[in-house]
Amino acid sequence: MTTHTFARPLAGRVAVVTGASSGIGEATAEHLAELGAHVVALARRAERLDALVARVTRAGGRALALAADVTDEAAVRAAAERVANELGGADLLFNNAGVMLPAPVEELATDQWRHQIDLNITGLMNAIGAFVPQLVKTAAERGVADLVNTSSIAAQNIFPNFAVYSATKAYVTHLSRHLRTELGPKNVRVSAVEPGIVGTELQDHVTDEGALAWLEGSKQAMEWLTPQDVAHAIGFLASLPPRANLQQVTIMPTGQAS
Ligand SMILES: NC(=O)c1ccc[n+]([C@@H]2O[C@H](COP(=O)([O-])OP(=O)(O)OC[C@H]3O[C@@H](n4cnc5c(N)ncnc54)[C@H](OP(=O)(O)O)[C@@H]3O)[C@@H](O)[C@H]2O)c1
Repeated sequence: MTTHTFARPLAGRVAVVTGASSGIGEATAEHLAELGAHVVALARRAERLDALVARVTRAGGRALALAADVTDEAAVRAAAERVANELGGADLLFNNAGVMLPAPVEELATDQWRHQIDLNITGLMNAIGAFVPQLVKTAAERGVADLVNTSSIAAQNIFPNFAVYSATKAYVTHLSRHLRTELGPKNVRVSAVEPGIVGTELQDHVTDEGALAWLEGSKQAMEWLTPQDVAHAIGFLASLPPRANLQQVTIMPTGQAS
């Protein structure tokens, strides 16, 4: 193996990243491009995606911006068609777009319940529906493909007032375990990544005063993860030999107890 291969283990691969306009998705798109993948950056804010593509290109990488709302099934399918036509299909999907809107259940914040379910579950499924056929096809042709879903430590632990968000992430983790049994035999590795608190725009959308105070306290008490920390974990699992599927990755701030 040459030094070049070591430095760019994902050369020749096509990686679609949802939620690539900020936070974990943006950092992961940049890192996968550094590792040699041709990255497809998907989110709604086109100007942020264009800036990402410009940065990747300046650094010698390759990236394509596709502005789309993942809750719009037809828009995600159209994006997948472009990936098939222009890049020969995706062999990595980082299924990551999501939102966290905690609130006590008795507040009946039904719009926020719906928003989280529509994005974290239905949006995730829209991307799976659009790209899994490509992953199966490219795995057959190239020997391996990856479906990496962003879950959360909230899928495992109990966070009062985060019930709906946590339940959407429990869905993601449990779904991933099931899909692995279906897709693994077809050389598609399936992983669930479960971060603890990462400093991103996720916290900016929170409106609940109690949750905001809890987040602020935790920020003072510990050093949160950075999006790059998670990006490196994803780069690592995608760079493993095709026979190895790191199926569940829980990555926590060292100081976060639960
Ligand atoms: N930060 C944490 O502490 C933490 C911990 C565990 C898990 N997570 C999970 O990590 C994932 C990424 O979150 P983040 O922390 O990086 O937050 P973030 O900075 O807010 O990123 C969320 C991304 O999702 C995109 N997005 C939102 N709605 C969308 C839609 N309808 N269609 C397409 N894209 C959409 C956003 O872009 P646009 O607004 O441009 O569409 C943005 O790129 C989420 O699934 C989150 O639940 C985060």
